[in-house]
Amino acid sequence: MKGVWATGMLIAVAICGVAQAAEPPTFSDEVVRIVQERCQTCHRPGEHAPFSLITYADVYKRRADIRDQIEWRTMPPWKPVPGFGSFLESRRLSDAEVATILKWIDAGAPEGDRAKLPPPRVFPTGWALGPPDHVLEMSAPYTVPARAGDVYRCFVVPTNFPEDRWVSRVEYAPGDRKAVHHVLAYIDTGSAAQALQRGAGGAGYPCFGGPGFLPAGGLGGWAPGIGPREQPDGVAWLLPAGATVVLQVHYNNSGPQARTDRTQAALYFAKSPIDKRHRSIPILNHAFTIPAGEKRYEVRAAWTVPPGRDMHATGITPHMHLLGRDMKVTATYPDGSVRPLIHIDDWDFHWQANYTFAEPVPLPSGTRIDMVAVFDNSAESKRQPSKPPRAVSWGEGTTDEMALVFVSITVDGERIGWRPR
Ligand code: HEC
Repeated sequence: MKGVWATGMLIAVAICGVAQAAEPPTFSDEVVRIVQERCQTCHRPGEHAPFSLITYADVYKRRADIRDQIEWRTMPPWKPVPGFGSFLESRRLSDAEVATILKWIDAGAPEGDRAKLPPPRVFPTGWALGPPDHVLEMSAPYTVPARAGDVYRCFVVPTNFPEDRWVSRVEYAPGDRKAVHHVLAYIDTGSAAQALQRGAGGAGYPCFGGPGFLPAGGLGGWAPGIGPREQPDGVAWLLPAGATVVLQVHYNNSGPQARTDRTQAALYFAKSPIDKRHRSIPILNHAFTIPAGEKRYEVRAAWTVPPGRDMHATGITPHMHLLGRDMKVTATYPDGSVRPLIHIDDWDFHWQANYTFAEPVPLPSGTRIDMVAVFDNSAESKRQPSKPPRAVSWGEGTTDEMALVFVSITVDGERIGWRPR
């Protein structure tokens, strides 16, 4: 009996194998579904990616390039090392998706039966979260000159609310999605941002690695392919009365035409009770100097959750500039066990994001968070801005560096007690 079983299995396996080899995946039934789901958020007309991946012809034409990018896992862009922390909206392809695409290309990228094509993916226009309570907008359009490459500019938007506001959701609308690479929003409760704006004249002021002042908080941000985010129930950002919001916009325009942008951020105020404030804890080291020529220079920082205060981390935002190569953040619990938070082993200043944890990470009192940032200040460093390399310290300029991670937290048991009127 046993022998018969084994033979039967072998035959079944063999038949499956033959069937698979004879019928590779086709564009119309399998590949298009992956492309709709995983690529079209950016690769469609008007979006930031340099070409569209909509039709069979679009994808077929680029198959060799796509094969490389998929195999190297450079596309879709997603920086966190898998298995080290767990995040919402991961753009990383599953092993099965990678296998399907590679098998399809290796089989000559057949179109298949058009009758099997799913309907085109429709992307919503307008505010995905519905009519906003208030829209923050750049005071005037900003023109990014042709072939300007990377431009970092901060726009000052006064709010003029007479009382504190609790903001439960923010949706960003880049004005020109071809030019806008990412947006970060900072809160200024003083007059620093306005002074910087006056000093620059015109729309906005130049800013590379930060807004140019110590912000009193933030309102998250936007990067291609990341949708507006719901806060957990009862959690909101505080926008203090009279505060100014600074929109830091990273533009990238290598094209032959000037591009004009007017980015907006829609605020949705809390409509139900708020008990916890969304806070952001910067963990940083600004007392470092990376020697010129140094290939792997480590900068560390740590922060310990204060006594008597348990917290949960909801998200994490690593930040370095052009020489950053690697950043690893861990939480060490009072019992000595270590929990990975995030690891980026191929840092790219162009692909920064606020990463939201799949589940809030408990940070009981006494937990130590460690950040290890690694910089490459050699002449061969991928994006070395200085030729020849020079010693580099903390600063906001293109040729300065930062070793910084923001951890978004809520404090357990916090009872702000804000109730809608
Ligand atoms: C989050 C946005 C985003 C997503 C999602 C995305 N791409 Fe891209 N892709 C880009 C951008 C932007 C570029 C231009 C190069 C750059 O900025 O890295 C690019 C470039 C490329 C290139 C050219 C790379 C080169 O340097 O020659 C290929 C091929 C590509 N993408 C394929 C894909 C495929 C296939 C998918 C889906 C499986 C995908 N991309 C998903 C944004 C995206």
